[in-house]
Amino acid sequence: MKKESRKVIIAGNWKMNMTPSAAKSAIAETAALVAGKNGCEVVLCVPFVDIAVAVEAAKGTNVKIGAQNVHFEKKGAFTGEISADMLLESGVEYVIVGHSERRQYFGETDETVNKRTRAALDAGLKVILCLGEVLEERQAGITEEIVSMQTKLDLAGIPAEQMKDVIIAYEPVWAIGTGLTATPDQAEEVCAIIRRVVCGLYNNDVAEALTIQYGGSMNDANAAELLAKLDVDGGLIGGASLVPEKFAKIVDAAQA
Ligand code: PGA
Repeated sequence: MKKESRKVIIAGNWKMNMTPSAAKSAIAETAALVAGKNGCEVVLCVPFVDIAVAVEAAKGTNVKIGAQNVHFEKKGAFTGEISADMLLESGVEYVIVGHSERRQYFGETDETVNKRTRAALDAGLKVILCLGEVLEERQAGITEEIVSMQTKLDLAGIPAEQMKDVIIAYEPVWAIGTGLTATPDQAEEVCAIIRRVVCGLYNNDVAEALTIQYGGSMNDANAAELLAKLDVDGGLIGGASLVPEKFAKIVDAAQA
């Protein structure tokens, strides 16, 4: 399978931004700007409390709605958590798992990332699994080891059949929200490593069909050259996804 036959996915990660009323208008604005842009899948991952209005506002458009986290247990005494079934019934199609901010600030480990990924897949959600090295790891020359290890641990126990619902987002932590973007060559190098690791874990078909996104200060100015790389099949966009015009330009860059 060639790059051209892989699904390109441009996903926004709103993080802790947008109240429900702001979400409603941002989705409507974004949907109008990306209407008919069918060269990629367009996803917006919104805060939990925005899901209901976001799903409603996205109805009949080509914008899909995602969540930003999911708990691994099906239900029970887990105050403050949200289950995969709750997301699914609310109209959510995608969920981000293992974002570096969850790993950094909320004690997320590869073990919990793996558990969340498995629970989300079992429920029928598509998972945007985030991984990437921190600056010290890049400087120490161990980026390959780190992302390989994360890929293996985060995908542990996930059967090949479920890999069609997995998207991996390579997000170098030093590039997130910093304005520092990985160069297209740096992004390509690591996305290709991830694909090789997935090939080793599964097989060539699974690896070649896998959508691998780049994330970390992707914007309307740098998206085209990142997306042109052989192993970069989309983007996970934070800051720029909050501005519909900017996000729509990234969607435009993915149409080629
Ligand atoms: P950024 O965030 O685009 O603001 O760097 C990306 C992300 O955290 O997914």
